[in-house]
Amino acid sequence: MNKVKSLNRKDLLGLKDLSVDEIKLILKTAHSMKEVIARPIPKVPTLLGKHIVTLFYEPSTRTRTSFNTAAKVLSANVTNVAIASSSVVKGENLIDTVKNLEVMGLDCIIIRHSMGGAPHLAAKNCNAAVINAGDGFNEHPTQGLLDIFTMVEKKKTVKDKKVLIVGDISHSRVARSNIWGLKKLGAEVVVVGPPTMIPAEIEKMGVRVSFNLDQEIKDADFINMLRIQRERQEQCLFPSVEEYSQLYGLNAERMKQAKKDVIVMHPGPINRGVEMTSEVADGPYNVILEQVTNGVAVRTALLFLLLGGKNSD
Ligand code: CP
Repeated sequence: MNKVKSLNRKDLLGLKDLSVDEIKLILKTAHSMKEVIARPIPKVPTLLGKHIVTLFYEPSTRTRTSFNTAAKVLSANVTNVAIASSSVVKGENLIDTVKNLEVMGLDCIIIRHSMGGAPHLAAKNCNAAVINAGDGFNEHPTQGLLDIFTMVEKKKTVKDKKVLIVGDISHSRVARSNIWGLKKLGAEVVVVGPPTMIPAEIEKMGVRVSFNLDQEIKDADFINMLRIQRERQEQCLFPSVEEYSQLYGLNAERMKQAKKDVIVMHPGPINRGVEMTSEVADGPYNVILEQVTNGVAVRTALLFLLLGGKNSD
């Protein structure tokens, strides 16, 4: 039984800010939403009359589409602002953009931005709910939630499970949201990657650091592989793709060392042949497309909880 029955907050900016009870409430509500989404007609009137805007300053396939789908499941109206053809290209700043959108009568702005803290700034400057859909290296809270939802679905709990987060930890908002959430729920988290990709003092978040994937893979319950984010690297942080992939990529040979019931995850998009071979990406351990499906349920739950829905128990 959850101690909280609704999210008593205007915004969802990061897992760092959420209590254990709030995380559990979102996961539980997402479970109910998954049942709604599986219906022949996946639509309920909960957010009829609400207006949601997506404002993505960076590209997206999964996050934006799943927020759109989630809003439509709940009968909300959605407007997708196309940054490239908006007044942002004329130099309009974030606060002015958000304030102008808000006075058109919207209830929620979903923001992705290359600058860490951009959704927080927007949230301070408008009365509408703001959801962080990924800000710089900081957080990608709905990805963290859908990853944890998928883990709980697969192994009932993350408590005391060993989760490897592998790759470019320094540039990964997905890693940070996973770490905040997983540590709150009692998982053992090990971040694995080359020293150039592990931020200083990451241990302060309660994780262990390892540079040796072969050593860590043997008793891992979950392996969350991160994308190499070349667009965020000012300099190349590894000598060659081949060397990175040899040391930190998942291939069929390396998977032989893992437990038979290990779960392989990736937030997408995958650099096939870098983080993992296609044999692994499409193989028996992976739940990558299930993560995407669960993203719709988690985002539906979040819109429901933030914009007026009440949990039924
Ligand atoms: N995982 C994720 O955020 O994917 P998109 O960039 O496609 O939204």
